[in-house]
Amino acid sequence: MDTSRPIIALDLPSAEAALDFVGKFDEPLFVKVGMELFYAAGPSVITSLKDAGHDVFCDLKLHDIPNTVKGAAASLSRLGADLLTVHAAGGKAMMEAALEGLGGAAQTTRVVAITQLTSTSPEALKAEQLIEVPLAESVRNYAQLAQSAGLAGVVCSAHEAADIASVTGPDFLRVTPGIRPAGAAVGDQSRVATPGNAASMGSSAIVVGRPITKADDPVAAYHAIRDEWNAGRRSA
Ligand code: C5P
Repeated sequence: MDTSRPIIALDLPSAEAALDFVGKFDEPLFVKVGMELFYAAGPSVITSLKDAGHDVFCDLKLHDIPNTVKGAAASLSRLGADLLTVHAAGGKAMMEAALEGLGGAAQTTRVVAITQLTSTSPEALKAEQLIEVPLAESVRNYAQLAQSAGLAGVVCSAHEAADIASVTGPDFLRVTPGIRPAGAAVGDQSRVATPGNAASMGSSAIVVGRPITKADDPVAAYHAIRDEWNAGRRSA
């Protein structure tokens, strides 16, 4: 999995919009298909993106009983997903079932866990989930649980990446959204990092949506972000 490429979040309303967008690039990309696009366009958008030569991250945040998640992971890996997400809150048995669903040894799909959603506040953690430990401790706990289940890593904020690596070791992936080039619109993201900061704070891969998809020149925006990310990784 080539994480020198920023993963572009294709939060777009249709397969046509997604394929038009990737058609602007004359190089293989690593793209993320989330719920908006998947539920609008259906599974064929994944095969279309794969057929066009791109790596695909299926960010569908699976969370159900183990047998159902095993089947969902099997379906997504058959479509060619290179990376997919499950909720660590579904438990160790559910995460292990996701891996079982991937099937044979030739399968290259990797699975990463959502720990606590970055939209969950410390107050909601306590009041709604009845979790009394600090948010960072809950995130570390879920990361270790995901690692013990055999997953490849977690999705987290760049600000959590080093803390997670301190308990999981450096090879456990920290895939980080919430990336904004200096001066870009933050939108609804709260704890953002620049591509260079994400590299120095310990991200293993970055996910970037609107700073690329809404740019006047998406190809130039992508290359600038990719160059900053890789320069940061070399000096980290
Ligand atoms: O447009 P933007 O760069 O904010 O897109 C970030 C992408 O990462 C979106 O697809 C969003 O759903 C996803 N994401 C996130 N925060 C998380 C998990 C996923 O922003 N904690």
